[in-house]
Amino acid sequence: MRRLLLVPLAWVLAGCPVDFQGWGGMKQQPKALPYRESTFFEDERVMRQPPAGTVPRNRRGQDRFFLTGKDAPDGGYVESIPLTLTREWVESGGKSFDIYCATCHGVLGDGVAQVARNMGLREPPSLVDLPEYPDGYYYDVITRGYGLMPAYAEKLTPEQRWAVVAYVRALQESQRAGLEDVPPEARPRLLKEGTP
Ligand code: HEC
Repeated sequence: MRRLLLVPLAWVLAGCPVDFQGWGGMKQQPKALPYRESTFFEDERVMRQPPAGTVPRNRRGQDRFFLTGKDAPDGGYVESIPLTLTREWVESGGKSFDIYCATCHGVLGDGVAQVARNMGLREPPSLVDLPEYPDGYYYDVITRGYGLMPAYAEKLTPEQRWAVVAYVRALQESQRAGLEDVPPEARPRLLKEGTP
């Protein structure tokens, strides 16, 4: 009986060194690591791309205009902001603008900023005298970046990006406005301060 037990025990002990040292055992096994190449997939990437047009689950129900600023995958830009604007929204857009845009485009959006002066390759343009672009164009520039300008899709939610567009519109209006656009009761104050 004792001899019978010894046989499997000897077999296991003899097998161990072969399994765990010779083959590297469980330390070395085929697995996919992020950012490595893959021989399994055709595009040789381990990390898979979501299928084109995938919408994150938390964005279900929000339409394409709202998320892309365009009304078809390669269609035109949305003409006007697809949100009901409130004063709070525009002001929150102003906060994001001051944080993310003013460094380059200036607090008034007029391109007057220290960074702008030092960006030798391409100075950030004034945003208050651009050609007549639809609102979706601004949204798209913020979302995907433009030339040397970085994209802000990671930093600002779609709602916040539209709010920035609204604030840029407010800045444009404010620079174009004349005295007649100001309520009569506020005009004397402006005249006294020497601004039109
Ligand atoms: C790092 C500096 C920088 C920041 C920050 C920045 N921009 Fe720009 N922006 C630029 C530059 C530079 C260009 C011109 C890019 C080019 O022509 O290559 C530009 C271009 C643009 C244009 C396009 C103008 C056109 O001619 O069509 C818009 C609109 C714009 N920016 C809006 C914004 C808004 C809104 C923000 C904030 C969310 C922002 N930018 C943040 C540097 C910046």
